[in-house]
Amino acid sequence: MTTIAVFVGSLRKESFNKKLAQGIERQLPEGVKFEYADLDLPLYNQDNEDVLPAKVQALKQLVERADGVLFVTPEYNRGYPGVLKNAIDWASRPWGQSSFAGKPAAIVGASSGGLGTSQAQAALRNVALFLDMKLMGQPEVYFNSSTGLDQQGNIADNSVEFIHGYAQTFAKFVEANR
Ligand code: FNR
Repeated sequence: MTTIAVFVGSLRKESFNKKLAQGIERQLPEGVKFEYADLDLPLYNQDNEDVLPAKVQALKQLVERADGVLFVTPEYNRGYPGVLKNAIDWASRPWGQSSFAGKPAAIVGASSGGLGTSQAQAALRNVALFLDMKLMGQPEVYFNSSTGLDQQGNIADNSVEFIHGYAQTFAKFVEANR
């Protein structure tokens, strides 16, 4: 079984990014599964690194046992959300014990704007490269949540083929690079 740790950068119950993640999940090939990281964490504080909070330990373990990582990010004010940065900072620590190093990874995002999340994704790419992750460059996903989801929150017919191809390509990338 190939396991992918999924970071959805929104805590919102009806998050479009969560729906995008679930849409990708439904198109994964057999033998590949998603595990969703809980990003509802305390704020990062270096004073608490000696004894990591239990939820942070769980996050690090989830990433470490995963074969790859998928970041699914909203765009907030042309950046990516603090919730996501907070989780990444925790899982990158303590120094020398980052959970991310060497992991194959990809970044996608959903917003209601045409090229929404492009700046959030670009900023996140820089962070992922610094963390020594192996990033998939193509295909990119700038998912339009207004036109790409149906009334039930599933991937709309106009986008199913694209998301299917994405899920297959990403699964292959993880398997080739883990
Ligand atoms: C936004 N939104 C937004 N959208 C965008 O394309 N570029 C942006 O810079 C911003 N900025 C922004 C800031 C803040 C604080 C909020 C709350 C929202 C809109 C955003 O893309 C939209 O609310 C998404 O639906 C958020 O993702 P989830 O929660 O649906 O996954």
